[in-house]
Order: sequence, then structure tokens, then C-alpha cells
Amino acid sequence: MDRRQFLAHSSVAGLATLASRTAFAATLTDGGRLRRALGLPDLPPPFERAPLRMPPSVTADGLTLRAAARRVEIAPGVPVEAWSPGDGPVGPTIRLRTGDTARITLENALNEPTILHWHGLRVPEIADGHPRLAIPTGATYQYEFPVIDRAGTYWYHAHPHHRTGVQAYRGMAGLLVIGDAAEDALGLPNGEHDLPLLIQDRRLAADGTFAYEPAMHEQMEGFFGDAAFANGIRLPSKSVETTTYRVRVVNGTTSRILRLALSNGQPFTLIGNDGGLLPTPETLTQIDMGTGERVDVLIDFGKVAVGSRVMLMSAAFESPARMGGMGMGMGRGMGGGMGMGRMGAGGMAQGAAMDLVEFTVDRAVKPVAWKPRTLPRIATLDPRTAKRTRTFQFNSAMMQHNINGREFDMERIDETVRFGDTEVWTFVNDSPFPHPVHMHEVQFHVIERLGGRARIMPWERGLKDVVLVNPGERVSVAATFDTYRGRFLMHCHNMVHEDMGMMMNYAIV
Ligand code: C2O
Ligand code: CU
Ligand code: CU
Repeated sequence: MDRRQFLAHSSVAGLATLASRTAFAATLTDGGRLRRALGLPDLPPPFERAPLRMPPSVTADGLTLRAAARRVEIAPGVPVEAWSPGDGPVGPTIRLRTGDTARITLENALNEPTILHWHGLRVPEIADGHPRLAIPTGATYQYEFPVIDRAGTYWYHAHPHHRTGVQAYRGMAGLLVIGDAAEDALGLPNGEHDLPLLIQDRRLAADGTFAYEPAMHEQMEGFFGDAAFANGIRLPSKSVETTTYRVRVVNGTTSRILRLALSNGQPFTLIGNDGGLLPTPETLTQIDMGTGERVDVLIDFGKVAVGSRVMLMSAAFESPARMGGMGMGMGRGMGGGMGMGRMGAGGMAQGAAMDLVEFTVDRAVKPVAWKPRTLPRIATLDPRTAKRTRTFQFNSAMMQHNINGREFDMERIDETVRFGDTEVWTFVNDSPFPHPVHMHEVQFHVIERLGGRARIMPWERGLKDVVLVNPGERVSVAATFDTYRGRFLMHCHNMVHEDMGMMMNYAIV
């Protein structure tokens, strides 16, 4: 039996049981593609959805993460080869407390070099997962660092040069959640009611593997999957009670901007983002997130009728990409129904509506309403104290992506910052594509956006480490470089752009 037949046979039973579940027909993104990929006959709707998986929670005192290619299930009875730092389709959820010491061993059993980066954490240079620290097959890397960051939702992912995109896509990523006493005191939903979600989008190749071969136009705009995965599970569904949940969303996609929304139009209560809790909650029906960004929201299912379904989705939007005469921007954002946004072998277009996680409201409980009260304060930063302003041009043209005209060079230090200084960095995007700009080693304040949306969005308050810079925008951030000296990165987090060199080193001296 060849691999394809094996997949087909082992999958029939799993898919058949799942098929009895009603799906959310209006926003289906699958359209039977998985079944066709597996050589199965089309089922009439309703289609299958898989139970959401919560990765095992682990602490970091003596944690070993073994990066390896492994056969995992992305839905019951649907095996795929993933590259993962744990047993599941993505890595375990690392739970830390501020003040802990993390001691983590990475073992590389992949067939290529890798290294892990703790996205959003301020750590010594040696623990930051810079691409030049990548280790060969068979080697191990020891990380040890104190956890100094606030409670919040962070993540980790592979970071070897040119291979970050494919490795993170295949599963070399996981959630990293920090807790602290200030957060404990708030009585936020916890345990079963705290749902961290690592969202990715992928395509399945005909042989049942994850396809990742950016075609020419995808090397410019980015790589897009045809279905969403949460915590490594394709098109998942989660049974919930009629109460309030804390849902933490990490945009772990290769290139996709997510416009978070709930299918019943219900709002979210936004309580946090990249760098932890915001000073005040905010009620929003839509939240945009570029790759690498996180939001922490409360969703109240208390008024949702038992037996109904609510889809956490990425709502349709006009792609911010400006493709000029290339004709690639045509027909975007017209909703993500059957067939929409699937162009040839490609994925769903940027801006096409996409289902993320379905919630089935199954159990009535006495709702515990979380009463917004004062959240922990964040020290403000006065940009007038900045010692310097630096400007960075993000260029994408002619199959190249660079910053200030230079492609990434692992050994070249592009900028040198004095330890302890506050600076303003301005990210300028005159290119046709959106760039989610990420800084290692600092949490910054977004202080200004000129052009484009021309304002700071409600989810960009507080502390951030990624900011979305759309074409025509100029976004300024302020940060104080006062944690560690060393060599760190600033880059576009569209992983296709990053891998092609839209990244630079800066040194704190
Ligand atoms: Cu998510 Cu260089 O990082
Ligand atoms: Cu990072
Ligand atoms: Cu970019």
C-alpha cells in the first residue's frame, strides 16, 4: 500500500464519524478539499470538524524539546508528517511565571539545522535563538534565562536563516504563557476557561503532507494556506459552556493578516495583546492581527443559546496589498465561501473570510461574568526623551525584500544602540505589501501612524513587539533598550519576507 492509499484507508472511519457533526455551512472553507486530497469521494455538507486539541502544558525547569519529523494527527484518523518540538502537531504549551528561571534543552532530530526563539521575551543574546546559533542535526542547545516579562501570551518558533517559514509552518512552534501575581489578582477565567490558540494556515498536498513551496508570486506577497489550523488541528471545533472564556490568539500564520470576528456579531472584550494586559479593557467586534501579533480577549457565551454554534473567524477584508497592474488584487475580500480565494494550487487569498475555531455551546452553567475592573498599569514612555530617531524603509520589489536596501547578513551589525537609551524607530512602507514588523528584545509603544489607516488601532495600545505596517503607512514606535547588551533582530514577520532577507541585526552596547 503506498502512502496515499494508507492515508485514505486510515482516514475513512475518522472522517465518517466526524461528518455527522453539523458544520457552519455559510462560512465553510474546506469544501471537501481534505477528502479529495485523501482520494475520498466528496461528502455532501455538513462537513467534518475535528475536536480542538489543547497542547500539554509544561513548565520550563528542565524541559527538553526534541525537534523531529513525526507523524501526527491533524484531525482524528488523519495523519500528516509534521516537524514539531513535541509529540503533537505543534509544541507543548510552555507555562512560566515571572521570576522563574527557564532551563530548556533543544534536541535537533530534524534533517536540517534549527534553533528556537522565544517570541516576545526579553532574554540574553545567547538565549534569543538568533539564526547564527542554529544547531546541526543531532546537536543540542541549552537555554537558561530568567523570566522577567509580565504575564501575557507569547509563543516560540524555529528561527534558522532561510528556513523559519517552512519550519514554523510544519509545526516548529508553540504557545508560551506567562503568569504573574498581578494577573492572578484579577480573577480572570482560568483552567478550562482559558484557551490559548496558535492559529496557522496551511495547504495539504495530494500525498497528505503539508505543502510549502512558495511560487513566484507567493515569494512576493507571501504564502497562504487553504484552511486554518488551531494548535495544529485542522478546522477545529471546541465544546463550550454558557460562560465567559479567556481566549488568547496567536497569529502564527506564515503571511496572513487575521481580522478576528465572531460569526454571531457578538463583540470581544479585549484585555491584552503582545506584551500582556492592557490598562483598560475595550469592547470590539473586529481585531486585525499581522503574523506574530497576539490578542487576549474575553468571549461571553452566557447569552448564546445551548445547541448553537459560534465561529471564531477571520472576516473578509480588502487586502491591503497594492498590486497595481498585476491584477492580483482583483476580487479580494469577497467572502470565503466554497471555492472563493482558491486560485489554482494556491491558498485562500489574503483578506478572504476564513473559519478559525468553531465553538459549540453545549452546556448550560451558571455564567460567571467577568467584571471589567482596573487592569495592571503599564509605565508610559515619553517619546520626547528619545535620544535618537531611526528610519527603516521596508522594500519589496523584483523578487527581493529588504530593509533600507540591505538584505539580512547574519554577521553584519546594521544599527548600534546605546544601552539604556530610549529611541524612536519609524517603519516606512512604500512597498506594495503589508509588513508586520517585529523587534526582538524590547516591548515597544506604538506612538504614531501616518498615512494609510492614519491612527493607532485600539489593539495597538500597551506593549507590543509586532506592529502591522500597511502599504502607504509610516509607523513610529518608542522603546527603551535597557535589558541586555548584545546582538538582536528586527524583521518583517511575514515569514516569506523574513526568510528572503527582510531582517537586520542591531546591537545594544
Ligand atoms: Cu517571532 Cu524573530 O521572531
Ligand atoms: Cu521574536
Ligand atoms: Cu514583509
